[in-house]
Parts: sequence; C-alpha cells; structure tokens
Amino acid sequence: MEIKNNYLEKVITLDGPAGSGKSTIAKMLAKEMGYYHIDSGAIYRAYTYAVIKKIGYLNSPEEFGDVFLKEKINPEQFSLQVYFENDTQIIKLDTEILNEQLRTRELTERIKYIADNISYRYKVNQILRDLAVRYPVIVDGRDMGTEVFPESRYKFYIDASIEVRAKRRYEEYIQNYKKNHIDIEEIKKEIQKRDEQDKNRKIGALKIPEDAIIIDTSNLTRNMVLNLLLTYLQKKF
Ligand code: C5P
Repeated sequence: MEIKNNYLEKVITLDGPAGSGKSTIAKMLAKEMGYYHIDSGAIYRAYTYAVIKKIGYLNSPEEFGDVFLKEKINPEQFSLQVYFENDTQIIKLDTEILNEQLRTRELTERIKYIADNISYRYKVNQILRDLAVRYPVIVDGRDMGTEVFPESRYKFYIDASIEVRAKRRYEEYIQNYKKNHIDIEEIKKEIQKRDEQDKNRKIGALKIPEDAIIIDTSNLTRNMVLNLLLTYLQKKF
C-alpha cells in the first residue's frame, strides 16, 4: 500500500483529443522535470500493428474489426515490451522496434477495434501502472486521469480547436511521409470521427477529469504551454 501512495506523487497525467499537442508537451515537460514520458496511444497503436501483422489490413477497417473479433485475438498472444532507453519510451514487438510504422493513416483507422476491447485496455493499463511504479512519469492519453491514475494529484486536459488540430496533423503527415497530396478537409473529418469514437467508448472514454486543469493550446506556442504547466505544477508541488 505504501508503494501505491508514493508512486502517485510522481504521476502527471495529460489527457486530450488527437492533435491537441499533448504528446509534444508531455515530452518537453518530462525533459524539463527529469521525468519519463509515456505515450499510451503508442501502445494501443503497437497492439494494432501486432494484430495487423497477424491478420493483415483486409479490405476495410470494418472487415478488419470483424475478423479481429471472430478470431478472438487477445493481447497475451503477442510479445510486446515497453521500456525506457536513454530516457525514451521503446516499444518492441518480438525483436522489432516500433516507431514510424505506428503512425500511418491505415493503422490509425483500425485502432478503434483494439482500443474498444476490454482485454487490450486491461493489458495497456497494467503496462502503464507497472512503469509508473518504477519511474516518475508524465503519461499522455485519453483516460489517464480518469481510469488509469484517478488518484494522481497532477492532471491536465489539453485541448485545441478542430482547425488547429487538423493543421497540426496535416503538417506532421507532410513532414513524415513527404506527401503533398493530402487533403486537409479529409484529415479534419478523420479527426472528428476519432473524437466521436474516443468520447463514446464504453470503457476508457475521453473525458475531462473532474480535478484537471484545462488548457486550450489553439493560440499558444509550445513554450507558452510548457511554462503554463510548469507554473501550475510549481504551485502544487
Ligand atoms: O494519442 P494517439 O492518437 O496516438 O492515440 C491513438 C488511439 O489510441 C486513440 O484514438 C484512441 O482510440 C486510443 N487510445 C485510447 N486510450 C488512450 C490512448 C489512446 O483509447 N489512453
């Protein structure tokens, strides 16, 4: 019990929708404070990648979802490791280190089926809690302050307008994939669809924790957001 109380002193949660900037800020904050950053979305992405490796992309996300359910693929079938190396979160599937392959649009369209599944949610939550017991962490996601670390004292909800979030994702795709034929309106629709799915999930839905500080990053630079968070944290620590 003692460990449990202590470790929650070192857990800072950042929740928010896709493209709100929470991962970028979580990384900066972790560096500034000497904490470790955990990207919980990347773990859901990694399990989605593992399932895709097993059953393929199939013809559509819906068909992928049907086969995933029919074949009862559970997370224990995969050897997925999450750990820190040089202060960075590493996700390894068997011997493969996962990075950019987790960020494609095709994979993103299929995450829903894994993120809606209770076995995967339990598994991811367990991985997150195990890391938080061993390291001081800043953890970003959708349900960090509500489901996974409800007793954390330091909770933030990071938001931004849909226009700003779509623009950020658009720039990310252009930079990462060197593609310039992406339609920003299409990205906006994809984000809106994901917001709907994330907010209406039966367990682990995206919600604002009651005791969270809400920050809208639409008109703020990264450094402004970082300073804002540090100011709030200094008051609380
Ligand atoms: O943050 P990111 O966009 O990488 O998350 C990918 C997806 O993983 C989200 O849209 C959501 O469906 C799922 N997710 C979740 N719970 C979390 C983090 C992510 O369900 N804590």
